[in-house]
Amino acid sequence: MTAPAIRVQGITKAFKDLQVLRGVDFEVERGSIFALLGSNGAGKTTLVRILSTLLKAGGGSATVHGSDVATAPNDVREAISLTGQFAAVDEILTGRENLTLVAKLRHLKDPGSVADDLLARFSLTDAGGRRAGTYSGGMRRRLDIAMSLIGDPPVIFLDEPTTGLDPQARIEVWQTVQQLADSGTTVLLTTQYLDEAEQLADRIAILHEGTIIQNGTLAELKRLLPQAKVEYVEKQPTLEEVFLALVGPSAGASTGSATGTNKEASK
Ligand SMILES: Nc1ncnc2c1ncn2[C@@H]1O[C@H](COP(=O)(O)OP(=O)(O)O)[C@@H](O)[C@H]1O
Ligand SMILES: [Mg+2]
Repeated sequence: MTAPAIRVQGITKAFKDLQVLRGVDFEVERGSIFALLGSNGAGKTTLVRILSTLLKAGGGSATVHGSDVATAPNDVREAISLTGQFAAVDEILTGRENLTLVAKLRHLKDPGSVADDLLARFSLTDAGGRRAGTYSGGMRRRLDIAMSLIGDPPVIFLDEPTTGLDPQARIEVWQTVQQLADSGTTVLLTTQYLDEAEQLADRIAILHEGTIIQNGTLAELKRLLPQAKVEYVEKQPTLEEVFLALVGPSAGASTGSATGTNKEASK
């Protein structure tokens, strides 16, 4: 049972003359969060599409939850969910209706209670009866992730889960992803944000020019750089810290109990 949740070996992919992946190798441990970090156009989505069986690799092999993506794609599909960069939420439906619809499509018993459980788990209970079109970016992304969890897939792929979200919404999504991993789900996420990888990931792999140029824990990656010289300067807050301090409460997450309730409802 110590087999990795995802194993990628020598995966290549070209689109005509454009060689996007040139032999990608890595493994993702079960129940961990693995961040694939790379700039725009590095091939992150291409790799996620290969691992989720939407696209065939040119060469190499990959297994997800023990099944080969090329030879057992149906088994892979049963073990995964994929949340893309662009939310798959139906804006006309309410949050609850979106969830119920997916639960029905998956032939689950009692879709209504599946929906209610997920609304509660993602702090969307109060918003559940409202059309998803009225949700904030963070709420919509959380609903999208909630929809992808219906049926309890052991492995989830999140392709740039916070691109385009404001800082508060990003933190909400980060908390959601962390909870998922805490409950035993394996998460592979792609990101172009260093701070996102830094916040969330157990391991970080950097995809650059078609291969993984570094793969390690945050501490391991930091050790690659020479020790910073000690300088005596006052630490300035980051712009993000300033922004969150000014605009409000959800930044501090679980702490500030007085401000912790129903951030969403008042929007
Ligand atoms: N279906 C396709 N046909 C041709 N080129 C593609 C296709 N999909 C992606 N590409 C190209 O492959 C490269 C990697 O794209 P992508 O995997 O989307 O990168 P990322 O997700 O890291 O931003 C880009 O140059 C992109 O234009
Ligand atoms: Mg992409």
